[in-house]
Amino acid sequence: MKLALLFVDDEQYILKALKRSFRSMSRQWTMEFATSARQALAILIKGKIDVVVSEIRLPDMDGRKFLEAVKKVRPGSVRIVMSGYADKDLLVKSIDLAHQLIAKPCDDEDLKAAIQRAVMIRNMLEAYGLKDIVVRMNRLPGLPSLYTEIDAALKKDDTDVDDIADIVARDVGVTAKILKLVNSSFFGLPQHVTSLSKAIGMLGMDTVQAMALSACTVEQLCSRTTGLSARQIWEHGFLTANFARTIARQEKMERDLTDDTFMAGLMHDIGQMVVAVNLPEKWKNARQLAQKEGLEMHLAEERVLGADHAVIGAYLLGLWGLPEPVVQAVCHHHHPEQEDSAELTPALIISIADAFAHNLDKPGGSETAVAGIDSGMAARLNLGQRMPRWQKECRRLLQDNA
Ligand SMILES: [Fe+2]
Ligand SMILES: [Fe+2]
Repeated sequence: MKLALLFVDDEQYILKALKRSFRSMSRQWTMEFATSARQALAILIKGKIDVVVSEIRLPDMDGRKFLEAVKKVRPGSVRIVMSGYADKDLLVKSIDLAHQLIAKPCDDEDLKAAIQRAVMIRNMLEAYGLKDIVVRMNRLPGLPSLYTEIDAALKKDDTDVDDIADIVARDVGVTAKILKLVNSSFFGLPQHVTSLSKAIGMLGMDTVQAMALSACTVEQLCSRTTGLSARQIWEHGFLTANFARTIARQEKMERDLTDDTFMAGLMHDIGQMVVAVNLPEKWKNARQLAQKEGLEMHLAEERVLGADHAVIGAYLLGLWGLPEPVVQAVCHHHHPEQEDSAELTPALIISIADAFAHNLDKPGGSETAVAGIDSGMAARLNLGQRMPRWQKECRRLLQDNA
């Protein structure tokens, strides 16, 4: 089935340029164009639209109101917002209603990539039966602006550590977390580091960006929920991410994929918070079922909701346009065998790191980690031989930080 797109911009020449640029996509996409909010809403009411790509400043309606109306008329649609730098404040105000933000003037390829991610999201919705769940989720958090600001800075050639430090310093909570990390024995430094620039220089800009994303998301979600400890989710994510990175480095995984694996570790259980905030009754029922029947939480969620926190978290990260390996690793962290890969994947690493984070310090903990993995996969990847090495390194990391 073709993907139905609606482009909204009051500048005719921009719509014409988009039409021209994407002519080659006409086999995969159907495209509609509107020059006002009113015209766009009429199109949305008339027929199915999967993705709306809209300018935030429209002549006949406030951008935020327009996005709210789109959400109401087509709750399952993906909303991509485009805007010039001058409208940054307007954009920030609408961030919770937009799934992805694109700066104007934008590259055709960037826009195409954003739309293709939207296809991936739509496919996920269908494959995992998430549509009904998503429609009921009215409080999905937006991509934290701190993350997008770091992202924009990293894309510039002349960005240095001080520029990133200036951006991060605006968030006291994230600054504190970064300084705490760099001063922990994970880094084994002889003296206490108090300078954010120095800390970022040591951690690397990608790690800092991943931590900013995770810290802001947890903060955003925890302010709206009860019954879930934000600190526990953050600490568990952090430990899993560090174990995952240790394993990835031992296996000499390439640098980009190692960074993606670290980010997936930080974010792997974020879906739990998404469910607790949006569907608190279902969340409570799942927790009760897990306790009553001694089930793992993801299995109880599957029974109560029809999908688990892994899939729901991945859906959110997909909406935000995070790298595909991160989205896939989060999606499959409780079922890495679904990827059917002959290689060690980030999803399998997260699954093992997750089990280590829960059990490594308990007697017989490592056996529990092995037991959770599909036996065919374990044999194919020779995990019986590799696991003790990973376990030793992760245990050392844990002991150093005790
Ligand atoms: Fe999980
Ligand atoms: Fe976990």
